[in-house]
Amino acid sequence: HPTQLVDRFGRQITYVRLSVTDRCDLRCVYCMSEDMTFVPREQLLTLEEIARLGKAFVALGVHKLRITGGEPLVRRNILKLFEDLGQLEGLRDLTVTTNGTQLTRYAKDLKAAGVTRVNISLDTLDAERFHKLTRLGDINKVLAGIDAALEAGFQRVKLNAVVLKHRNHDEVVDLVNFAHQRGMDISFIEEMPLGVIGDHDRAEAYYSSDEILRDLRGTMALHEVEDNTGGPARYFRRGHTDSRVGFISPHSHNFCDTCNRVRVTAEGRLLLCLGQEHSMDLRRVLRANPGDDAKLREALLASMALKPKGHDFDLQAQPVIFRHMSATGG
Ligand code: GTP
Ligand code: 5AD
Ligand code: SF4
Repeated sequence: HPTQLVDRFGRQITYVRLSVTDRCDLRCVYCMSEDMTFVPREQLLTLEEIARLGKAFVALGVHKLRITGGEPLVRRNILKLFEDLGQLEGLRDLTVTTNGTQLTRYAKDLKAAGVTRVNISLDTLDAERFHKLTRLGDINKVLAGIDAALEAGFQRVKLNAVVLKHRNHDEVVDLVNFAHQRGMDISFIEEMPLGVIGDHDRAEAYYSSDEILRDLRGTMALHEVEDNTGGPARYFRRGHTDSRVGFISPHSHNFCDTCNRVRVTAEGRLLLCLGQEHSMDLRRVLRANPGDDAKLREALLASMALKPKGHDFDLQAQPVIFRHMSATGG
């Protein structure tokens, strides 16, 4: 009887991303359109259901859970979920990806609940640009949130920056220096064509990881390293320091061969791949089998047959995935 999640291509799933909401207090131009329709609250999984799912995944060999959104920290009573998941035996890494605006309020409590690492999105250091990229954000809230996360003493705090040509590509050196001066790593992300965003042409805004690496190497030494977080990034170490720069390059360096993860949307739809629609309705499974975790585990094991080989993102084509990143869970 299988007790681990292994797909048809021999890839073992040890990393699960659980989205808790598709809502957000920002409207980043690469993630959402200006007028989004959000999922009615009654269609969301409850926090208890999400905790039950997390437990079932961990029982099947998953050792890293990441809480995502939308913006996870805008969900009401969210701390309770972190506290429940933080208790799970067998879980090595409990992580969260956030836009940082609520961290002055939550950082300490997240650490106390057992969160090991926090990833914070920051695409620019310029207040005006930040406001434009997020359509309504105040950078000072995020900078204060970063300070709060650093003070809370997580194992690691990392920045994520989606790089768009002519919007923030000229800031990559400054962003790396900002991160490294504060003891944080930073990852640069190639924009993925999820959902119609109505802001910019994604092909025109493409700025590849290789271009960023070239720009950085103009002012710093970077050496590729093997060790990673179990996430999709390739990492480079800066000189002889401990500081790292990561690259998440779905277009230029496809990483689907080594995929170790699946994600669950806030409505309980298990997405086997970020860039495909193959999915399983876990909300139905959860509600049809209250208290029967064996049935739930069976469904999760069966879902492995649905996991596709990889995405086929094409920046030149119209988006084929109409789901926005905010509704996907990253
Ligand atoms: P670490 O645990 O720090 O390695 O985090 P992570 O990079 O796995 O997670 P994070 O939430 O910080 O995501 C960073 C970026 O990676 C986001 O843009 C995600 O959409 C993207 N990403 C995560 N997993 C996948 C994946 O399986 N496929 C693709 N194409 N992108 C992914
Ligand atoms: N492409 C790539 N990354 C994206 N993110 C949001 N939308 C996109 C997209 N279309 C990033 C956020 C955050 C992470 C979870 O995903 O900036 O750092
Ligand atoms: Fe895995 Fe799909 Fe992401 Fe590729 S795009 S790494 S197959 S989840």
